[in-house]
Amino acid sequence: MSRDKITIRRPDDWHVHLRDGTLMSAVLPYTARVFARAIVMPNLSPPVATPALARAYRARILAALPAGTDFTPLMTAYLTDATAPDEIARGFADGSWVAAKLYPANVTTNATHGVTDVRKIDRVLSRMAEIGMPLLIHGEVADPAVDIFDREAVFLERELAPLMARLPALRIVLEHVTTRQAVEFVKDAGVNLAATITAHHLTINRNALFQDGLRPHMYCRPVAKREEDRLALRRAAISGNAKFFLGTDSAPHPVKDKECDCGCAGIFSATNALEIYATVFEEENALDKLEHFASLSGPRFYRMPVNSGTITLTRGEQFVPQEVATVRPFLAGERLPWRIA
Ligand code: NCD
Ligand code: ZN
Repeated sequence: MSRDKITIRRPDDWHVHLRDGTLMSAVLPYTARVFARAIVMPNLSPPVATPALARAYRARILAALPAGTDFTPLMTAYLTDATAPDEIARGFADGSWVAAKLYPANVTTNATHGVTDVRKIDRVLSRMAEIGMPLLIHGEVADPAVDIFDREAVFLERELAPLMARLPALRIVLEHVTTRQAVEFVKDAGVNLAATITAHHLTINRNALFQDGLRPHMYCRPVAKREEDRLALRRAAISGNAKFFLGTDSAPHPVKDKECDCGCAGIFSATNALEIYATVFEEENALDKLEHFASLSGPRFYRMPVNSGTITLTRGEQFVPQEVATVRPFLAGERLPWRIA
């Protein structure tokens, strides 16, 4: 039965890049008008690697919010080979950050300071396991010898399974999963492993990168995979399984940095992310599961209360903007069948 309206508890975005400065001021309102909270990625330059830097970044976000916006940024620590266990624990205890992000070195945008070997930070991770602090993982190997479309699947076997065996108590979010293998891995693992899924990976497969020519605005990391992978992600998202929840990985880059030789990875979906997720859930006849995915399962994993407010989507055509502050949004110019009331 088709419906014209859906009201859910206010959602959260469990993975977003808000950037800094004027770009942050331009993109932040899109996230903050929809999502009550967001896990803010720490891959600034320099990275957000100390509690003081996280607190200062949070203050800049709060200062950039449009007046009257009810939005809570949840900060994260950028792990490096040099991260000290005590500093991670201190920042968690004093509320500077709620989780830590593991980028394998050089795996993506601003990951040059990332971790060169996960074993090098085992002391940090074991402290996080003790204090119940979630580890958020960009799950790709950086090994150039591995085919780029296999880097997530190889990470599961080479890095993630051994890490979970070493530290079974560590609570982990495998961010922005893109493969059937990752979906199966997360489903089969214990309660300490969950995953976020982006709106774009539910919408496109890797053909989108080459549709009638090279499409830099469809390029992100991890790169979109095959159609069978997209379908596995859709089944996971609509399953009601609380291990899978919403994380947009909205990652804005100015057009000039995308449309060039060696363009940046990152898809900016914040303008219409919730409407795109709703479109996917409707296509799958699963609008009744949208609230689980967007608003209930994330807080459960992060051990936070669900939001008290609600948000309503109504059927009604809307066009994705062509450009926001020199950034091209995901599906720019395309028609969406849902809008936020
Ligand atoms: C992100 C960015 O631009 O910061 N890019 C991306 O393609 N997702 C970094 C990241 O999350 O990998
Ligand atoms: Zn990201």
